[in-house]
Amino acid sequence: MHAPNHNPLILSLPDEVATLAFGAALIPVLQPGMVVTLEGDLGAGKTTLVRGLLRGLGYGNKVKSPTYTLVEVHTVSGLNLYHFDFYRFNEPEEYVDAGLDEYFQGDGICLVEWPDKAAPYLPSADLCIRLRVDGDGRSAEVHAASERGALCLKNFQPLFSVSSNPIR
Ligand SMILES: Nc1ncnc2c1ncn2[C@@H]1O[C@H](COP(=O)(O)OP(=O)(O)OP(=O)(O)O)[C@@H](O)[C@H]1O
Ligand SMILES: [Mg+2]
Repeated sequence: MHAPNHNPLILSLPDEVATLAFGAALIPVLQPGMVVTLEGDLGAGKTTLVRGLLRGLGYGNKVKSPTYTLVEVHTVSGLNLYHFDFYRFNEPEEYVDAGLDEYFQGDGICLVEWPDKAAPYLPSADLCIRLRVDGDGRSAEVHAASERGALCLKNFQPLFSVSSNPIR
């Protein structure tokens, strides 16, 4: 599923502020129409990352989790962002029944929590972000899953110091 020859980027996110900053740091590299999946257990920080991204774009309203609504639609700075959460699906066919496919066909950026719950129907991702609880904080792995995603990853510049392979 993942594009070969691209190592994942590994980030350490010691606190919520770091997760928010990570979300904001994605803004310059995301392109219209991209699909970003957000994997990780309950409470791993997926919604927090989306909140950071939206705030970074200038979105001033409360960012609600789409757990009950399946999708929250945001239009900010001329971009459409579709934030999904499929946690409550009992079976992936519910994705098809919900008629959500058209969100993935336009220029909106799709951010998807619990993508596994909609597999195999979910359109393929460009970037896969995996969040994990790591002590009091979180860690994140960013994988490119398409050529477009690989370009994103290449251009990504975290706004904070991160690396699993510190140079010193
Ligand atoms: N890097 C971090 N370090 C410590 N706490 C964090 C970090 N990032 C987010 N959190 C906290 O984790 C909690 C859960 O975050 P969030 O709601 O974003 O998780 P989620 O992955 O969306 O969960 P769910 O699967 O239930 O939707 C929040 O209280 C948030 O402040
Ligand atoms: Mg969430």
